[in-house]
Amino acid sequence: MSGPLLLAIESSCDETAIALVEGGRQIHANVVASQVALHAATGGIVPEVAARAHLRWIVPVLEAAWADAGVSWTDVDGIAVTYGPGLAGSLLVGINFAKALAHVRSKPLIAVNHLEGHVEAGWLVDPGQDPTERPEPLFPVVALVVSGGHTFLAEMRDHGTYRLLGQTVDDAAGEAFDKVGRLLGLDYPGGPAIQRAAEAAIGRDVRFPRAWLGDSYDFSFSGLKTAARRRIAEARVEARLPDDDPAARLPDAVVAELAYGFQDAVVDVLATKTMRAAAEIGARAVVIGGGVAANAALRARIEHDAAAAGLPVVVPRPGLCTDNGAMIGAAGARRYAAGERAGLDLDARPSLPLAAR
Ligand code: KG4
Ligand code: ZN
Repeated sequence: MSGPLLLAIESSCDETAIALVEGGRQIHANVVASQVALHAATGGIVPEVAARAHLRWIVPVLEAAWADAGVSWTDVDGIAVTYGPGLAGSLLVGINFAKALAHVRSKPLIAVNHLEGHVEAGWLVDPGQDPTERPEPLFPVVALVVSGGHTFLAEMRDHGTYRLLGQTVDDAAGEAFDKVGRLLGLDYPGGPAIQRAAEAAIGRDVRFPRAWLGDSYDFSFSGLKTAARRRIAEARVEARLPDDDPAARLPDAVVAELAYGFQDAVVDVLATKTMRAAAEIGARAVVIGGGVAANAALRARIEHDAAAAGLPVVVPRPGLCTDNGAMIGAAGARRYAAGERAGLDLDARPSLPLAAR
């Protein structure tokens, strides 16, 4: 593989991540220091704690990336860094680190939108993997990004060319997973915990409401979350659990049914809208990314529906769905090729959108 070799830095949320990626696709190193254990104690992310952890880990993560990579500074063509969206304090740690490296090493700086990273992650090739297993896309594609902070559907006519079709009007899909996981007394983050709990109840007839919002491609998960809260409260009364002791957990079989019913409703809405959009825009592939795209039920449902429509699905392996540096190297290469260079005055953009409607 050829093309620019980028050192890519991601620190927008709760993973400190650095990768070395060639030509936007070939991973040479991809190191992620997760703060999950740190935030599990509070059941969610405390921004100041996250920013401090990025500061603590960013140098060791860079050292680990060099140790894995088999390349050196002279091979590096540029430094890509996430500048938004995300938590301001967390973003600034990565941005300032990237600026210092760019300055000291005289390398160009490339500003990357985190959301474009999630979209581009699907074409990354792991060390030793055959690149033909991850063929370049045929455009247009429909792209669904579902993470802890974002849920949107976009039409992509080329790399870097997006039109927003719809987005969440309230909670992000991952946020709903995390909140319902907490109500069920499961570990943080709720997404993987709900997936695991739901396995014991797959196919059970547990019906949660779906918010279709008419013909729109927008999403809403707050009604579903309220329904889950009510069902969980009812189940607790039935199981005679005290309201004032959240540590008193529902029986596993009940947790499994509620987790399955909730997950099934999220998956149904995401997959149905994605496939409807694919048909409407004449998509030639379906791309999914973001932490919730690691969900096995969502992957299976989209694979199934897309196969029925004769469309290939591009989805990163689960470890590349959640935040990582390689995806920033992937999106950064497109920006690098387009001649985009950031100045040393680059600032964080906490609310940076992917695209307009
Ligand atoms: O993309 P990501 O790492 O960070 C953001 O950019 O937000 O996504 C994290 C989100 C969390 O809400 C987490 O619960 C969810 O992705 N997630 C999952 C799964 N793995 C991670 N949700 C459902 N099923 C999973 N297997
Ligand atoms: Zn993300």
